[in-house]
Amino acid sequence: MDKNQFDSLFSTTGITNVIQRPEELWILVQAIQAISAKRMLEIGTANGGTLKFFEQVAGSGGRIITVDSAGRSFESVPVDFSNPLCDIQFIQGFSQAPETIEKVMQAVGDEPLDFLFIDGSHEYEVVKADFDNYHGLVRPGGIIGFHDVNCPTVKRAWNEINIPHQSKVHHDLGLGTGIIKL
Ligand SMILES: C[S@@+](CC[C@H](N)C(=O)[O-])C[C@H]1O[C@@H](n2cnc3c(N)ncnc32)[C@H](O)[C@@H]1O
Repeated sequence: MDKNQFDSLFSTTGITNVIQRPEELWILVQAIQAISAKRMLEIGTANGGTLKFFEQVAGSGGRIITVDSAGRSFESVPVDFSNPLCDIQFIQGFSQAPETIEKVMQAVGDEPLDFLFIDGSHEYEVVKADFDNYHGLVRPGGIIGFHDVNCPTVKRAWNEINIPHQSKVHHDLGLGTGIIKL
């Protein structure tokens, strides 16, 4: 996806459905395109806004697991996924709950992830738990993205991350995007 395609998709997906600014998401999209990410886990589906972009990057043969605690079904998400480009599995539940973790582990199986996106609860304990519970699923060379790193509770969890990595960058635009390359 080039910048023109990104801008076009952002306008059709709808600014109310993507819960971040385009310039923030473009940084993340470029990072996951650079590693040709195909296997992804998103914490925080919301309206399916960021998921729409991840679907485009994953493309044919890709697989995305997306988790949200909100009670609605995936079919009622406002962004259209009726003809998905890749396999998308929605898991309803609190990301830190043992039953959700179990479902995610089963969905991921033995093949590691290329990309983990943490964009669910902003509570420090939950962000930390999301990282602790799911970062081990990402392959070396894969990417872990955080949104809302400018939020103090998320920033606290972000600052505490201390695992081997190639790079760890806080992009201080809008709500803040953190990108760790393992
Ligand atoms: C900021 S929104 C996600 C935005 C979305 N990634 C986007 O920009 O298109 C956060 C979402 O996380 C969900 N959420 C909050 N706490 C959660 C938790 N503990 N487990 C799973 N989902 C959670 C909320 O229901 C909400 O839909």
